[in-house]
Amino acid sequence: MKIEKAERLKRLPPYLFKEIDRQKEEVRAKGVDIIDLGVGDPDIPTPPHIIEALNKAALDPANHRYPSYSGMHDFNAAVARWYKRRFGVDLDPGTEVVTLIGSKEGIAHIPLALIDPGDIALVASPGYPVYHIGTQFAGGEAYFMDLLKENNFLPDLEAIAPEIGKKAKMMFINYPNNPTSAIADKDFFDSVVAFAREYNVIICHDAAYSEMAFDGYRPMSFLEVEGAKSVGIEFHSLSKTYNMTGWRIGFAVGCTDVIGALGQVKSNIDSGAFQAVQIAGITALEADQTCVENMRQTYTERRDILVAGLNSAGLSIEKPRATFYLWVEVPQGQTSAGFASLLLTEAGIVTTPGNGFGKAGEGYIRMALTVDRERIREAVERIKGIGF
Ligand SMILES: Cc1ncc(COP(=O)(O)O)c(C=O)c1O
Repeated sequence: MKIEKAERLKRLPPYLFKEIDRQKEEVRAKGVDIIDLGVGDPDIPTPPHIIEALNKAALDPANHRYPSYSGMHDFNAAVARWYKRRFGVDLDPGTEVVTLIGSKEGIAHIPLALIDPGDIALVASPGYPVYHIGTQFAGGEAYFMDLLKENNFLPDLEAIAPEIGKKAKMMFINYPNNPTSAIADKDFFDSVVAFAREYNVIICHDAAYSEMAFDGYRPMSFLEVEGAKSVGIEFHSLSKTYNMTGWRIGFAVGCTDVIGALGQVKSNIDSGAFQAVQIAGITALEADQTCVENMRQTYTERRDILVAGLNSAGLSIEKPRATFYLWVEVPQGQTSAGFASLLLTEAGIVTTPGNGFGKAGEGYIRMALTVDRERIREAVERIKGIGF
């Protein structure tokens, strides 16, 4: 029997990391000791007190049944308390919070709640691919807002033509940003709220990296801005904050109608996150936050070693103030794919070509700080050994 895939899968863009994956396997097969700075997945284990909370909760039969699709009241209430402590924002856990099976799940599903076939979602390029693919799966179209160095990797909202603004149903933004590591200030979020009001565009701010910030900098929530809660929602994740990527737990908060619509989609697709994981999530959010400070310290040290090393190797880069990514401009005359390939074949270092995150990512590679200091030092030595 011939298996015919749906048009929505056939229309997906070609997998841009295919070539680097192929090269990685080829280099590995030669016995090269690969340093993988490609994937944004923390190498540090989940803190023990969170694992202990899971162990205990997993033994309780009450947690073995279907959870509520919108999240346990206790988890949503812990989220509301965390929001108040961290950002000074009030949330009603009953109507303004929904628990997610990782923030990716909510990001992928929100277009199903808001986008009709032919609708436009404003999406950043470069950006986390789930924004435009989720839009496409819902039958919508992504309009790409380029994130350029001269605009500090913020979208230029004034450059969006009024007819696009009028057609747009929603906008995805993400600060601190993957892959550029850029940050946003209150002025930017104010302009986003003004844009949302002018064009009736629902804002989805992805704040997955809100806690991964350095040198005393603490990113703000989009919901701190006046009027934000009436125009949009914010996605958060426990993945990077507490090294819990495999646990699949996150949440979305904000505008009641949008949160309700996302919950409606979820109630028809999934049955919520495992309650024992939600209980461990409560411990993560409410217990002593020294582990978060340790996480920041670890990435600060790694960042400093890699930034200094890259600069001494002739690649010019400033220290990012947030995220565990370095967005590195490739040397003159190189392409993203060409430079990533050179680093892999000549130095055994895996990086991600910037164009994989969208056309405007051409000319950059992304390096993730997900190996220890010794390996980063080793990577620097290897890079210094290549001529470019
Ligand atoms: C910008 C951004 N948003 C969301 C996610 C998804 O995180 P999770 O589904 O683990 O919460 C990621 C993961 O890398 C990300 O980079």
